[in-house]
Amino acid sequence: MKTDNKSIKWKGIILAGGSGTRLKPITNIISKQLLPVYNKPMIYYPLSVLMLAGIRDILIITTKENINHFKALLLSGRKLGINLSYKIQKKPNGIAEAFIIGQKFIGKSNVCLILGDNVLYGQGLKAFLKNAMTRSTGSTIFGYPVKDPSRFGIVELDKNNRIKKIVEKPKNSKSNLAIIGLYFYDNSVVKLTKKIKKSHRGELEITDLNKLYHQNSNLNIEIFGRGFAWLDTGTYESLIDASNFIYVAEKRQGLQIACIEEIAYNNGWISKRTLLKISKENSNTDYGKYLLNLVKNK
Ligand code: TTP
Repeated sequence: MKTDNKSIKWKGIILAGGSGTRLKPITNIISKQLLPVYNKPMIYYPLSVLMLAGIRDILIITTKENINHFKALLLSGRKLGINLSYKIQKKPNGIAEAFIIGQKFIGKSNVCLILGDNVLYGQGLKAFLKNAMTRSTGSTIFGYPVKDPSRFGIVELDKNNRIKKIVEKPKNSKSNLAIIGLYFYDNSVVKLTKKIKKSHRGELEITDLNKLYHQNSNLNIEIFGRGFAWLDTGTYESLIDASNFIYVAEKRQGLQIACIEEIAYNNGWISKRTLLKISKENSNTDYGKYLLNLVKNK
């Protein structure tokens, strides 16, 4: 494994298609990833993760029906100091299809994929992301302990904490480590995705791609422990749970979670003047007041 990351460029993909069938009728006319998680559109959360990783070239993949909504919300990304592009996934043909749709966008870069409905929060997140990005070859996935392993892609580790096996939605699993919707791959991801076949449910499975990396001894895992929240937003209950979580954490600490303008500002990607302008546009909200405080305090 090479760990020289000076020469590697990382790009990011947010996969925000899907059909959101578990959230119907809410998702009859709008993408799940545009629904609010408390005070922000859901896509802000995965976008914030890529921005925390320092990734500035980002492709958003979504459906034909929703692409214009995403464009209207996030535009070119210039206001955040990032470059956003957009592509359509015609049908939910599987998560790994992101690398076929994004082939041209990826070019010669490495790529981080995050699912548009994943909310991640915890101290040290940035260090986890940066660590994954030091690997110039191979891939990194992330494990998170869950109560009900039968609902997730699960990873089994050996006694040296190396990956033994990956199983999709196991009935009786020895492991409770779910693979979350955040993946870092080297540039061979496009070539490897082309090798996998559609599964019995007609999808290009990310699990099959990870298995290929594993066969090549090129799959690494990092574990998010107790201090981390990985929230699911795919059902009525999990959506309101995620909203409540963000509400409570933000209210208690007075710190915003997934405030993309704050991250852009802290990364030195936007000026104080731009931040002030955005805060004024949102002046009727705590969000706008929070941004104004950032301008004043720095
Ligand atoms: P899922 O939650 O598996 O699917 P979904 O969003 O369509 O919802 P439901 O199960 O209620 O029908 O998808 C996880 C994330 O990945 C979500 O953000 C949508 C995205 N996704 C795509 O964009 N394209 C795909 O082909 C698949 C399988 C998922």
